[in-house]
Amino acid sequence: MSAQIIDGKKTAELVRAEWKLRADKLIQSGIKPGLAVIIVGDNPASAIYVKNKVKACSDVGIYSEVHSFGKDAKQSDVLDCIQALNENPNIHGMLVQLPLPPHFENNRVIASIAIEKDVDGFHLYNVGALVTGNTVFPPCTPYGVMTMLDRYAIPIEGRHAVVVGRSNIVGKPMALMLLEQGATVTICTSRTRDLAQFTQSADILVVATGRPRMITAAMVKKGAVVIDVGINRLSDGTLCGDVDFEPVKEIAGFITPVPGGVGPMTITMLLCNTILAAERAQAGIKIR
Ligand code: GUN
Repeated sequence: MSAQIIDGKKTAELVRAEWKLRADKLIQSGIKPGLAVIIVGDNPASAIYVKNKVKACSDVGIYSEVHSFGKDAKQSDVLDCIQALNENPNIHGMLVQLPLPPHFENNRVIASIAIEKDVDGFHLYNVGALVTGNTVFPPCTPYGVMTMLDRYAIPIEGRHAVVVGRSNIVGKPMALMLLEQGATVTICTSRTRDLAQFTQSADILVVATGRPRMITAAMVKKGAVVIDVGINRLSDGTLCGDVDFEPVKEIAGFITPVPGGVGPMTITMLLCNTILAAERAQAGIKIR
């Protein structure tokens, strides 16, 4: 039997509708949640991501503003912008779109964001909070994956989760969040020797390597939950994930498609984090 498709688009719509009620409540009480996005340079993918984030904000009633800097911008100018946004009471969440140009120090820039406005959850304080099980803002992509698992009532505790990919944005926080929910977690990379030996024993397999269709049917256990975080454009212009979807779907129990799987969830979770930040600001909750 073919796998059940985890519909990220539909799940994202449901989650957005729930959080829009929370945004509406804030707006009725005089607080419009606000998100600031900083983009530096001319990375075309980043420009599309930012455009999509701005549109998603307006769909749920979040105010948003974009601060764009050229690729030769000075780091100090970006730091000054972040400082002003930290002090701006109309801005509850803020993110710096990555990657930054090579002359920027990522950690220094992200560390200048106020931790209670760090809706990406990338500040080192928030990374430490996640590691110790005191999450302030769950990073959006793994948060989206956890939300999909939850909405499809997929159990995590006691199961073997294998994460392929070790990025700071996806692989590492994903592994930590699964671990926090009681999974036994293995972290692999695209270069793990005999990768199939690990993936074949996964009850839950999350793949975020950026390598088109690298996970084949022979690498997947029958009935496994397969989550594909990859989005790759092939030379013929079509999109595909890191999982070879058609054959793997015949083996897996659940699978996310690309597009329409993890992608729509990521931006949705950014909206949730921004609304949460505004709720905390209204309640006067201090993070530390
Ligand atoms: N670049 C790719 N993914 C992300 C993300 O989730 N947040 C930010 N800030 N930059 C990214």
